[in-house]
Amino acid sequence: MTLFQDKIIWITGASSGIGRSLSLQFFKLGAKLVLSGRNQDALHSVAKEANVNKDRFLILDFDLSTDFDANEKAQKVIEYFGRIDYLFNNGGISQRSISIETSIEVDRRIFEINFFAADKLTKAVLPHMLKNGFGHISATSSVVGKFGIPMRSAYAASKHALHGYYDSLRAEMYGKGIYISVIIAGRILTNISQNAVTKDGSKYNKLDEGQANGMTADEAAQRIIKGIAKRKPEIMFGGKELLMVYIRRYLPKLFYYMAPRVKPT
Ligand SMILES: NC(=O)c1ccc[n+]([C@@H]2O[C@H](COP(=O)([O-])OP(=O)(O)OC[C@H]3O[C@@H](n4cnc5c(N)ncnc54)[C@H](OP(=O)(O)O)[C@@H]3O)[C@@H](O)[C@H]2O)c1
Repeated sequence: MTLFQDKIIWITGASSGIGRSLSLQFFKLGAKLVLSGRNQDALHSVAKEANVNKDRFLILDFDLSTDFDANEKAQKVIEYFGRIDYLFNNGGISQRSISIETSIEVDRRIFEINFFAADKLTKAVLPHMLKNGFGHISATSSVVGKFGIPMRSAYAASKHALHGYYDSLRAEMYGKGIYISVIIAGRILTNISQNAVTKDGSKYNKLDEGQANGMTADEAAQRIIKGIAKRKPEIMFGGKELLMVYIRRYLPKLFYYMAPRVKPT
């Protein structure tokens, strides 16, 4: 019997990368999952790979960038499973373009997916979690949620926004049985760079060296699950890029020198 046995876990971005690995590992731990993303086939392939019965999963495909009805989505989960214990706001999109060339529409799209969708889903599940007396909400941020580097202006801003939002929410929920974890991922080997948007919104379509040499998604998922089990407010993992988090905090002058020299790809 694990901590996650029969728990209802809703993961956005479950069709690929970190969310996919997280879903597969939670299935192994006996959880029941709501798999969200746009790519239905990829979501079904997660359940197929996990070899689980229909009563262990729900495919809830929708586009985080649109004006989706978060309450209606949450209601569907409650109708199917009767409860929501964990929400992972993991679906996200990165950027490969400098600020001056990037259209405001692209900046807004990044925020819609990375920040506002998490905000909406959080608001939709919270009343239900409060009624149940338990809930754990997390959001996948990034090391660039702690500092900025070139070619990530809107992405870094959207991830910074998650930290402010969830720090406030954590404080508001103190003592109410609601736990908040912000996940600070370093470079992870997923499709994030291929799927990143460029200045005009088109797909970047390249695997960057940073991701190619990054931690595997399976290891990232293991680190996330360990941190969630301990109800850690922040869960940070990655490689040497994590050093920049501390340099930014404790040696800001060194950070200002280093940031323009970081290889952003
Ligand atoms: N990989 C890294 O180096 C890294 C580092 C720091 C943080 N992160 C964060 O980790 C999270 C997961 O990314 P990943 O690395 O696993 O990348 P990934 O392989 O590209 O996966 C991204 C996931 O987000 C979903 N998604 C993207 N746009 C969406 C939209 N408009 N509507 C619904 N779902 C959408 C995708 O699902 P569909 O395509 O099916 O819609 C996919 O499942 C993201 O929040 C990312 O910012 C990644």
